[in-house]
Amino acid sequence: MNPKKQKEKDRRRARKLAEQAWDAVNAGNLDLAEKIVRRAVAAQLDNPVLWVDQGVILGLRRKEAESADAFRAAISLAPTFAEPYARLAALRIRQGFTAEAVALQTQAVRHATHDAGYAEQLSAYQSLADSESPPAAPPPVPAASAPEPRTASPAADPVGDWPHRLAAFDWAQLGDRLTRDGCVVIDQLVDAANCDQLGGMFDRDELFAKTVVMDRPEFGQGEYRYFRAPIPAVVDQLRRAVYPHVARIANSWERLLGEPERFPPVWDDFREECRRAGQTAPTPILLRYGPGGFNALHRDLRGAVFFPIQMAVVLSRRADPEDPESSGFRGGEFLLCDVPERKKSRRRIIPAGLGDVVLFCTRDRLVRVGDVYGLQPVKHGAARITAGMRVVLGVPFHEYR
Ligand SMILES: [Fe+2]
Repeated sequence: MNPKKQKEKDRRRARKLAEQAWDAVNAGNLDLAEKIVRRAVAAQLDNPVLWVDQGVILGLRRKEAESADAFRAAISLAPTFAEPYARLAALRIRQGFTAEAVALQTQAVRHATHDAGYAEQLSAYQSLADSESPPAAPPPVPAASAPEPRTASPAADPVGDWPHRLAAFDWAQLGDRLTRDGCVVIDQLVDAANCDQLGGMFDRDELFAKTVVMDRPEFGQGEYRYFRAPIPAVVDQLRRAVYPHVARIANSWERLLGEPERFPPVWDDFREECRRAGQTAPTPILLRYGPGGFNALHRDLRGAVFFPIQMAVVLSRRADPEDPESSGFRGGEFLLCDVPERKKSRRRIIPAGLGDVVLFCTRDRLVRVGDVYGLQPVKHGAARITAGMRVVLGVPFHEYR
């Protein structure tokens, strides 16, 4: 066979092997995926895309050093190919090499100027690098002038503040409660200004891809709307900020179930897994219920790739049940219960209010039976609203087809 034909044959074989490797990833067989992707690379050693595939799969296998080597191989083969820079940056930031991650991500942005995700990631790395660098000595203040007042309140920069606010919570305790009860509340995580802004989006048709009106006892009574892409920055940033914490909790469940850890520590990497499974449609929704409204108990079962924990943010003020004069919605507690219901089944009724974030199990909660762990199916919903209006932001961490 002449060299040109041989090369074309190798290329086709390598591409087929790479597809098989991703099929194995989607089937959860990472061991097989690694073997196949290595064969793909061996079949066409000068293909940088295959080296990136190998780097990603080795990353899923927690073989970080080899994963980094694969991305570096891709960069040396194609120095203007943005993806391996971004992949390597994500890996290095997880390892704590912030400055190197900034430099790599800068290259990714330089070689893919149209990619808003890369630019967004770069600014996230830069702000992390800024927060890590020692504070500069304050400039001398002239004796006659008063110092500048601090204006960087959480309300002025609510988006950038979430990672720090979240870091201040005791995640070991929140994780224990989420594991034990299947749900947990983070009190007043989202400030009133952001709640107002988000709640005010409900009537802006241009922000939504689909609207569902519920008016049946088996589903509920109320309305919910799916955000269209790109979802509002405020929702995206909140999801990114919460994800690493819940991914650690979800991985601890996997370990107790005797499974390998499935969830990458950074949301973008998990989104990539959704994308590989063809799940690219945004899942965040706004829900609105008036008096008499409710959400019947249900499980969210869509998506082959799914994240076991979901987030709901209450955007409306809750009336003080002790004070008949106070304004806000009444009723509308968040509900979570085991199914099928038995005598000893857990049932949680959570009276969450403005800015409270409820983290809850999407489909099942972890239970211990003797010495082993298993999964108990759970359903969630909202109790009937007896007065006022309740608006909620619902955020699954996975995306839909
Ligand atoms: Fe739901």
